[in-house]
Amino acid sequence: MSGMAYPAPSAALLATLRDRLGPAGFSTDPADLAPWLTDWRRRLTGSAAALVSPANLEEAAFVVAAAATDGVALVPQGGNSSMVAGATPAGIGSDSDPRALLVSMRRMRTIRRVSADDNAVVAEAGVVLADLHAAVEAVDRRFPLSLAAKGNATVGGLVSTNAGGTQVLRFGPMRALVLGIEAVLPDGSLLQGLAPLRKDNRGYDLKQLLIGGEGTLGLVTAATLRLVPAIGARTVAWIGLHTAEDALGLLRMLEDRLGEAVESFELVPAEGLALVLRHIPDTRTPLAAAWPWNVLVEAVSSPGAEPIAARIEAALAEAIEHGLVGDATIAASEAQADALWKLRESLSEAEARDGVAAKHDVAVPVADMPGFMARAATAVVERFPGARPIAFGHLGDGNVHFNIRSPAGGDDKAWFAANAAAVSRFVHALVTEAGGSMSAEHGIGRLKRADFVALADPARLAAMMAIKRALDPRGIMNPGALLPLAEAAPPP
Ligand code: MLT
Ligand code: ZN
Repeated sequence: MSGMAYPAPSAALLATLRDRLGPAGFSTDPADLAPWLTDWRRRLTGSAAALVSPANLEEAAFVVAAAATDGVALVPQGGNSSMVAGATPAGIGSDSDPRALLVSMRRMRTIRRVSADDNAVVAEAGVVLADLHAAVEAVDRRFPLSLAAKGNATVGGLVSTNAGGTQVLRFGPMRALVLGIEAVLPDGSLLQGLAPLRKDNRGYDLKQLLIGGEGTLGLVTAATLRLVPAIGARTVAWIGLHTAEDALGLLRMLEDRLGEAVESFELVPAEGLALVLRHIPDTRTPLAAAWPWNVLVEAVSSPGAEPIAARIEAALAEAIEHGLVGDATIAASEAQADALWKLRESLSEAEARDGVAAKHDVAVPVADMPGFMARAATAVVERFPGARPIAFGHLGDGNVHFNIRSPAGGDDKAWFAANAAAVSRFVHALVTEAGGSMSAEHGIGRLKRADFVALADPARLAAMMAIKRALDPRGIMNPGALLPLAEAAPPP
């Protein structure tokens, strides 16, 4: 829909914001705005009337309150690394008539407090994940969530998208790691809940609405995050297998033998490894032969505990003896461990270098995943002859990226333009019918909104819309992300 319900920011509003935020916090210069108007995957470009960058909570609250008075649309943005264009001000106005204010949280990058005693860190929304990791390491603690975009992704975005990544298996996604939130609600009021409470039973857990809310219910300005003990030693292994079912069997066996020490269990199919070896410099094959499936396992031990390597080695030897595993290698140094991780973490990049792919991020119950991958691949190829499914990722979490590449040797861009929307709807319908989720970790954003709205359980969608209308009756927060634009906005 048009989004014409949103007024363009008036000259008076822009002047008020300029005065309050100063030159470092306010710009209408197209050169300042341009880098932030296109999404990470370069699928959408939008427009904004101004780039507004609050430096602290008071300025953030001022921006939201001023926009709320006029009903002006706000699009919050952190590192702009959304996989689903969740932070791109597209569809709210046109290039010649931009109607949104793009609210960058990147200047709010103070780590307010790190407490080893509380096992908690209070970080502002603009803190970059890699900087957060470094800050808590300084007090011998660890923030146990990581992803390939850690050099860009910010705390506010990670919270607002309930980010996952490659280390969710043991400690969970952001939902399990956020102890408290500070946010500006759509009317400009402050939700101040940063105390690192482990127990709080005062009714609705409002922070959980903001986690994964994609900025549609408020502007997250800071979060209190849970920390865990630093790692004493880690062991990374690369394992070759005959089938995805064997991978699942191996996961359960390793859990039996190693308990909670297994922190990553990532699946890479033969064609995924081949793409990496073909396109990513300084990579080499980890095993003597190519196996239909590979798994990267990382297991850790606490400082002072017995190192984990010998136990993994024994477990893998047993798995090979029983025919569950074909072959395996264990990294003998940190450099080798990093090299194995590079094979996994650069898979998306290798895929992109090879050509265009329709990308999906699906979850089903872990035990159903091998069967789902096989059934879905057959169904996709039947419906779209020649299409090349490739499934990789977080098998331990029941979440894979079930991407579809175009038929070999053709014009991938033309195929993608003609088929991508239908392919994605087909895959999303398959996973929904299987009782799963069409967005396991990337969110809905703008790229998946239409499929989400079309396939969502009506009761779930109606409840979400009711919450949205109650907290943001004028629909000013991140319009167009997650929920339909026209319904969130008031009638013109
Ligand atoms: C990954 O797991 O590698 C990413 O979430 C997938 C992606 O970048 O598409
Ligand atoms: Zn992923």
